[in-house]
Amino acid sequence: MDKTQKEKIQELIELREEAKLGGGQKRIDTQHKKGKLTARERIDLLLDEGSFEEFDMFVSHRCTDFGLENESYLSDGVVTGYGTIDGRIVYIFSQDFTIFGGSLSEMFAEKICKIMDMAMKVGAPVIGINDSGGARIQEGVKSLGGYADIFLRNILASGVIPQISAIFGPCAGGAVYSPALTDFIIMSRNTSYMFVTGPKVVKTVTGETVTAEQLGGADIHASKSGVAHFVSETEEEGISLIRKLLSYLPQNNLEEPPLAPCNDPINRLDDYLNEIIPEEPNKPYNMLEVIETIADYNEFLEVQRHYAPNIVTGFARFNGMSVGIVANQPRYMAGVLDINASRKAARFVRFCDAFNIPVVTLVDVPGFLPGTGQEYNAIILNGAKLMFAYGEATVPKVTIILRKAYGGAYDVMSSKHLRGDINYAWPGAEIAVMGPKGAIEVLHSRELKGITDEKQKAEFLLKKENEYKNKFANPYVAAKYGYIDDVIEPRNTRFRVIRALQSLQTKKDVNPPRKHSNMPL
Ligand code: HXC
Repeated sequence: MDKTQKEKIQELIELREEAKLGGGQKRIDTQHKKGKLTARERIDLLLDEGSFEEFDMFVSHRCTDFGLENESYLSDGVVTGYGTIDGRIVYIFSQDFTIFGGSLSEMFAEKICKIMDMAMKVGAPVIGINDSGGARIQEGVKSLGGYADIFLRNILASGVIPQISAIFGPCAGGAVYSPALTDFIIMSRNTSYMFVTGPKVVKTVTGETVTAEQLGGADIHASKSGVAHFVSETEEEGISLIRKLLSYLPQNNLEEPPLAPCNDPINRLDDYLNEIIPEEPNKPYNMLEVIETIADYNEFLEVQRHYAPNIVTGFARFNGMSVGIVANQPRYMAGVLDINASRKAARFVRFCDAFNIPVVTLVDVPGFLPGTGQEYNAIILNGAKLMFAYGEATVPKVTIILRKAYGGAYDVMSSKHLRGDINYAWPGAEIAVMGPKGAIEVLHSRELKGITDEKQKAEFLLKKENEYKNKFANPYVAAKYGYIDDVIEPRNTRFRVIRALQSLQTKKDVNPPRKHSNMPL
């Protein structure tokens, strides 16, 4: 007998309830016991209340091997759809560990591909929440193909729409490459890990004994490998980080970043900045204090805080305008540029450039880090990455030299020569080929060899260093040639940065037509 309309509606309601239970209450309880939320709870927390529209709830797998013909679940292990964050559309997929351990099947991959294709058509960010045992073993090569279909979409969407990955559980094997192809990775401490091969395989192949946490936990990827951009104590914190991050970003590469309302006076004078630079040139100070002082409401969202802390990257606002900040950090290794710092900053500058976010660069850099460790691991190529990123970036670029800008590092850090638009220096800036000590040792090596008396030698060095400082270690030589547009009072930096950014709002610059560049990867 045909079902009545009422029965048909009831059937729909029941199917929806079934889908919402994922792999069943027992597995949901196990998920909670591990301190993890379910796929749907994560979506509910992330999106504006009631905004989620789910796709493909009724999809299930097509596998008939290994007994799977008798076991299937609605949604097949991934919840997909769209919703809003602060009223702006985002597409989302959230892997459901309660169904076959969130493992990826052919249909699971098709669901993800569908929302990625939609996001590209609409021009909206994609957020992926990962919690999965990897390729669904029963589906074999179909699941490998499914991964690659997602990878391709990650690649084609790169630089077109923002892509954000949260890792809230296992992410192993080739599965790690989808997050790796996205713009930002957030990992939850103690409940997530990422690795290409797990501890057991590591033990077999290399003999090393490591735990999953030691091999690919959140702290390892945030501080050692640089794979993760953010670490959160809890999933809730990770989710609010995603919302915050998106507030700085445009929906796609053809839009400008959102303008936030701003009541923080643009011309407030921060007297504290006139005193922040220590009298002794080798004494550190905290660059984060400078950033927080000049930004709207002293707010700064730091990206990759624990990786290569000798350079700081992150987002801030100036009179409501969203800006990417790159700054040398004298507190760590004197703010020197090394391989990790160069790669970190290069990737950040390229992200900002792809999404029309102006870059403000705060410079205090003694140069590139010397030594075999750096040379053998290609500081040449890695330093060149940062140079390349700045040189090809066409977004507004505002640069302030606070103190040291020595050698090649002067050129690299968004100098005028690499199309820096507006370049200022503080009065204590030292812009030169190298620091006074090194310079005097090279320039006067012959005379120094002839002085045997130590006191005389010290006096000679001091005299020559002072001569050098007066002549070169100041901003006025660079200003004389127009490499610096103005020397500014430190306390007025916020105002000058805002004026500079305002003047550059209509900036247009292009790169020569070509298939693509060949940056030194
Ligand atoms: C099918 C899987 C699965 C998988 C887990 N499950 N992983 N089913 N394919 N890959 C199922 C389990 O059978 C179990 O089902 C449920 O999910 C939960 O798994 P548990 O093992 O009970 O959970 P837990 O103890 O938390 O361990 C999680 C885990 C472990 C560490 C992820 O399940 C595991 O090691 N899985 C295999 C991981 C793996 O080797 N994947 C392939 C990687 S290679 P029941 O019915 O009991 O609930 C890969 C290649 C991708 O992904 C290549 C792309 C290019």
